[in-house]
Amino acid sequence: MHRFVFSIFLCFAAIAPFLNCGVLADVVTCSGIVPMRYRNDKISITDFGGVGDGVTMNTKAFRVAIYRIEHLRRRGGTLLYIPPGEYLTESFNLTSHMTLYLARGAVIKATQDTRYWPLIAPLPSYGRGRERPGGRYMSFIHGDGLHDVIITGENGTIDGQGSVWWNMWRQRTLQFTRPHLIEFMNSKNIIISNVIFKNSPSWNIHPVYCSNVVIQYLTILAPPDSPNTDGIDPGDVGDHPDDKFDPNALPVVKDVTIKNVWGEKVQQAGSIHGLSNSPFTGICLSNINIHGGTTKGPRKTPWQCSDVSGGAVEVSPWPCSELTSASQTGACSIPF
Ligand SMILES: *[C@@H]1O[C@H](CO)[C@@H](O)[C@H](O)[C@H]1NC(C)=O
Ligand SMILES: *[C@@H]1O[C@H](CO)[C@@H](O)[C@H](O)[C@H]1NC(C)=O
Repeated sequence: MHRFVFSIFLCFAAIAPFLNCGVLADVVTCSGIVPMRYRNDKISITDFGGVGDGVTMNTKAFRVAIYRIEHLRRRGGTLLYIPPGEYLTESFNLTSHMTLYLARGAVIKATQDTRYWPLIAPLPSYGRGRERPGGRYMSFIHGDGLHDVIITGENGTIDGQGSVWWNMWRQRTLQFTRPHLIEFMNSKNIIISNVIFKNSPSWNIHPVYCSNVVIQYLTILAPPDSPNTDGIDPGDVGDHPDDKFDPNALPVVKDVTIKNVWGEKVQQAGSIHGLSNSPFTGICLSNINIHGGTTKGPRKTPWQCSDVSGGAVEVSPWPCSELTSASQTGACSIPF
């Protein structure tokens, strides 16, 4: 298995068209934007019948536990503890004011039975599923309209068991667009940290129409030939398949910091494409080392950019000129 291990720190000051994030101007540190809250109230998935034997379905346990968090509304929110073990489940929705905490050795495993993956509406800014017309499969772990959500722990694993989806994609038998491992929509104040993501059906982490999302200290794993298993996609991409999207729903992507990245055997250094009617601004790349590589030996693999501006500090290979403009060095001035 090809390892693309990185400790990444993203700070999305705004990726929503309708949220005013001007208040962020005073924020001193990026990680300080979203506090890592301590939750007094703690429950364990085993309190709800969860069985970590890798075989038992835990869908009901997750849904009931999260329903309980949503409706009891304990002061300061609730931590849902996942002990060591393999918890097989269908997809589930998170709720506000919760921490999903994976212990060391805990694995939340997605069912491979694609009949049990629910469909949801396409994104309004996209107009249809990205891969197939119509709706799209809901992400394995999903959040819509939430705030104050933390996914963390002791580097437990969220395993999408994506090979069934990759095979359908290869055999062109997909009926609808593949699910992401985690998607947050219309949400704010989210932290994802100290988790291992593995074998996502498609993109691993997709925050969209969100603000104040901090993603750090992750390991993301997938075989090199797995299709579209991107790590973090904050609102990509410009390839609209048709004109049935809402042009007023285009996200504003700005002040995204990508820091401390180490890549090996990476075929493409980076590809940052803004939307032609909504360019990405204030992008900061800092301390990034990406080593190219095919079996034929190391190869410099350039960045690709369009409709983007920002600054760069200690980046190798050196990024495209759009990301190194002197007027934008301020993009990297936020200390953290
Ligand atoms: C999960 O959220 C989606 C999208 O918000 C919704 O359509 C679906 O009914 C929810 N599922 C459950 C089990 O609550
Ligand atoms: C978890 O993984 C992250 C990223 O690799 C690392 O920085 C951190 O030290 C690890 N934490 C533990 C408790 O092993």
